[in-house]
Amino acid sequence: MWWRRGVVYEVYPRSFQDTDGDGVGDLRGVAGRIQYLARLGVDAIWLTPFYASPMRDFGYDISDHCAVDPSFGTLEDFDALVAAAHAAGLRVVLDFVPNHTSDRHPWFRESRASRESAKRDWYIWRDGNPPNNWIAVFGGSAWQWDEATGQSHYHAYLPEQPDLNWRNPEVRAAMLAVLGFWKARGVDGFRVDAMRQVLKDPQLRDNPAAESWSGAPDRYDSLIPRFTTDLDEVQEVVAAIRAEIGDAHLFMAEVTAPIERLVRYYGTAGEGAHLPFNFHLLWVDWRPEAIADLVERYEAALPDGAWPNWVLGNHDQPRVASRVGAGQARAAAMLLLTLRGTPTLYYGDELGLVDVDVPPSRVVDPDGRDPERSPMPWTGSPGRGFCADGVEPWLPFGDPALNVAEQESDPRSMLALHRRLLALRRSSADLLEGAYETIAAGGGVLVYRRGAGTAVSLNLTSQPAVAPVSGSVVMTTGLDGREGEVIEGSLLLRPGEGAITAAG
Ligand code: GLC
Repeated sequence: MWWRRGVVYEVYPRSFQDTDGDGVGDLRGVAGRIQYLARLGVDAIWLTPFYASPMRDFGYDISDHCAVDPSFGTLEDFDALVAAAHAAGLRVVLDFVPNHTSDRHPWFRESRASRESAKRDWYIWRDGNPPNNWIAVFGGSAWQWDEATGQSHYHAYLPEQPDLNWRNPEVRAAMLAVLGFWKARGVDGFRVDAMRQVLKDPQLRDNPAAESWSGAPDRYDSLIPRFTTDLDEVQEVVAAIRAEIGDAHLFMAEVTAPIERLVRYYGTAGEGAHLPFNFHLLWVDWRPEAIADLVERYEAALPDGAWPNWVLGNHDQPRVASRVGAGQARAAAMLLLTLRGTPTLYYGDELGLVDVDVPPSRVVDPDGRDPERSPMPWTGSPGRGFCADGVEPWLPFGDPALNVAEQESDPRSMLALHRRLLALRRSSADLLEGAYETIAAGGGVLVYRRGAGTAVSLNLTSQPAVAPVSGSVVMTTGLDGREGEVIEGSLLLRPGEGAITAAG
């Protein structure tokens, strides 16, 4: 199970590397950057959807699960990418989107054609306009009225993303076959999208109001999604997907849920996901007490045999360096890469990228996520090495000073820090496998032990702070020569500084 020691790197293909001059990244571009990723020291890349799609939700609206969208290339490009990754020792994880398709998918076209269609029941059609009070994640009613057949279809996301009916055995079989198609092409695992959503209440009971909500009434958060997400029966679908994925391939699942619900997605006897994403670091208060409490609650809730995992950023969330501030970005990186479990690193976070201002005229995402999807800056040139100079990138770039080339030449850059942390992690049994134990959480510092011999101290404030540890310094986030310093009971940390020490 390589993923227990591995680090997963999320590539958003639209934003990684353009090679065909359209300002949109493509699969050949990713293949051309494999050496960069191998050198960074990650173990796997997770590619967000590159399948045929009208791109209403930038690939999460799929019109053919087994074809590459022309804007990303061809199946041959995909095969070449997998071969290049494997040759460099990297695994490839694909996004699998079971909950919905595009409304242009042939299945939905057939389903919509008439009430008698053989595929009518492949989607969720009901009488009424709307049939109940359910609200879409992106806002507004989750039902779209179809004049021609006099019924509404359910969509958890955009109206153009109709939800599949996973209670229909033909749908299950057809979707599980998609996993088989990609396994046969040599991929190493799947990240399963919107896992909690795949089944909804067959009685269509109204979702209850969220009492704390004071915003607009048609927003997703105005209701508690009791009858649309995380139904107990979802575990049957998780088990079916796990059976198809098997044990030689990784099964990561997108599960946004409180810890006690999240850990159910591991299953208890090999019928759950290997890694249900733990998103809680995305929302935790950036204070030592809150982080220690989160880590302890998560560790305690893990079922026997379950392997933990941590996430600090992804294509749906503001960038970590924007959330916690540039002064904390290094401590955040050290935290992510030294907690127990598999980390997922979002492309560009290794450079400390921040959210990019997107003027209203350039906004393209239906849910405000453009700022964290700005293309990867490889150089400081006008096209940032992402696309040719003079080509308009699909989203604007940020600060030209923040780029890979610049950081490659700076031995103390964020990139250098990530390489160092990833290399250390790979060579440290304590960091790979050692138990987690909080040593101190207060006074602005978080200190924890990993295994018998390694401690991590993080100053989560903008003031100097003292960590109660002893031993010798292995590395610090500043990469500025503190290695070997001997600490006797108190380690003075600069603002936002982190240090890894070995027990003396
Ligand atoms: C997941 C994806 C997100 C997408 C949604 C609908 O949350 O991460 O980007 O919009 O599912 O597929």
